[in-house]
Amino acid sequence: MKHKVGLIGCGGIANQKHLPALKNASDRVEIVAFCDLIPERAEKAAREYGAPGALVCTDYRALLARPEIEIVYVLTPNVSHCELSVAALEAGKHVLCEKPMAASTADARKMLDAYHKSGKLLTIGYQNRFRPDSLALKKLCEEGELGEIYYANAHALRRRGVPTWGVFTDKEKQGGGPLIDIATHSLDLTLWFMDNYEPATVTGSAFYKLGRTLRPGSQGNGMGPWDPDKFEVEDAAFGFVTMKDGSLITIDSSWILNSTEERCASSYLFGTKAGAELTGVGGANNEKLYLNTVMANKQVKIDVDTAAGGVDFFPGRKMDAKDVECAVWLDAVEGKRELVVKPEQAFVVTKILDAIYQSAETGRQVVFD
Ligand SMILES: NC(=O)c1ccc[n+]([C@@H]2O[C@H](COP(=O)([O-])OP(=O)(O)OC[C@H]3O[C@@H](n4cnc5c(N)ncnc54)[C@H](O)[C@@H]3O)[C@@H](O)[C@H]2O)c1
Repeated sequence: MKHKVGLIGCGGIANQKHLPALKNASDRVEIVAFCDLIPERAEKAAREYGAPGALVCTDYRALLARPEIEIVYVLTPNVSHCELSVAALEAGKHVLCEKPMAASTADARKMLDAYHKSGKLLTIGYQNRFRPDSLALKKLCEEGELGEIYYANAHALRRRGVPTWGVFTDKEKQGGGPLIDIATHSLDLTLWFMDNYEPATVTGSAFYKLGRTLRPGSQGNGMGPWDPDKFEVEDAAFGFVTMKDGSLITIDSSWILNSTEERCASSYLFGTKAGAELTGVGGANNEKLYLNTVMANKQVKIDVDTAAGGVDFFPGRKMDAKDVECAVWLDAVEGKRELVVKPEQAFVVTKILDAIYQSAETGRQVVFD
């Protein structure tokens, strides 16, 4: 029997990631319901990817009322993640919610509580964990090749990369700009590599210098012009996080920054035995993994061949990150493996990013108990 899936939100990420991934996993799943506030989007997705007779609706409650649906994907703007995921868990569905988990710590806590009560699974769409370079670095960390990691940089830097579709510059619907949108990936990766989810203090700054002032024609944006009068979020934000064990993480994030480099979903780790540079997505040095150490009294930089040997989850098979994410998720639903992206981990990511916004606003350090 195939798993029956319902999608809430049929926009960008549904079409770029989940619909193709679910199609590639069509031996295990069928999509039987499509919900979007814009009916044409749900209709189009149903035509292209739906099982015969699939439900098309604009009210997510109609989708959740279908008892045959076992898995729900929440693919809507950030602020709605909490309401929709909690409702789906309470309706007895397993939930894959897109990143970030939520727009605030309070909302993420509600999701975590609903998850614990439901007995169902909840995961977050951090597909960057499933890139071959990320999986290789995770393994190196697990095997102690870096030693103790006491300093790390989580990078999410775009020079001019404002998303101009949907509601990304709408503070009320998204909760913020590049920090919540893309630093969520690099921080998730960094905490996962360090296997450290115990922040002690957070200090942050956010800048609103360029998004509200640069006019179309002088923006140079890779994704087309944005409307400066509707740009309500930060153009860049930076954080400084001390962890309870004394280690330090710095976070940088920008959609607009006068930098010569792009570095997204990227993490630099500095350990007692070696350092690692996961260059991340974008820029000249796409998805590379370098190690720094000393051999025979010489400083060496190693270019790790991350393609060789396949990925840990599916040895010998070369799969795209979105397909590994989907396969690993379905395995968890079937009880064949643990969740890889655990909601407790995504909760800490949200808690740190929320604290950076708080610190930026108040000018004070946030101290966790
Ligand atoms: N994993 C990634 O790398 C990645 C990349 C892009 C976006 N995302 C995340 O995906 C989410 C959606 O982003 P997007 O780019 O697809 O945005 P989008 O605007 O293209 O699509 C969102 C869709 O949700 C619909 N929608 C909104 N509220 C709804 C509701 N209550 N019920 C039903 N439909 C509703 C909208 O009409 C729209 O079609 C965001 O949380 C974003 O952070 C993740």
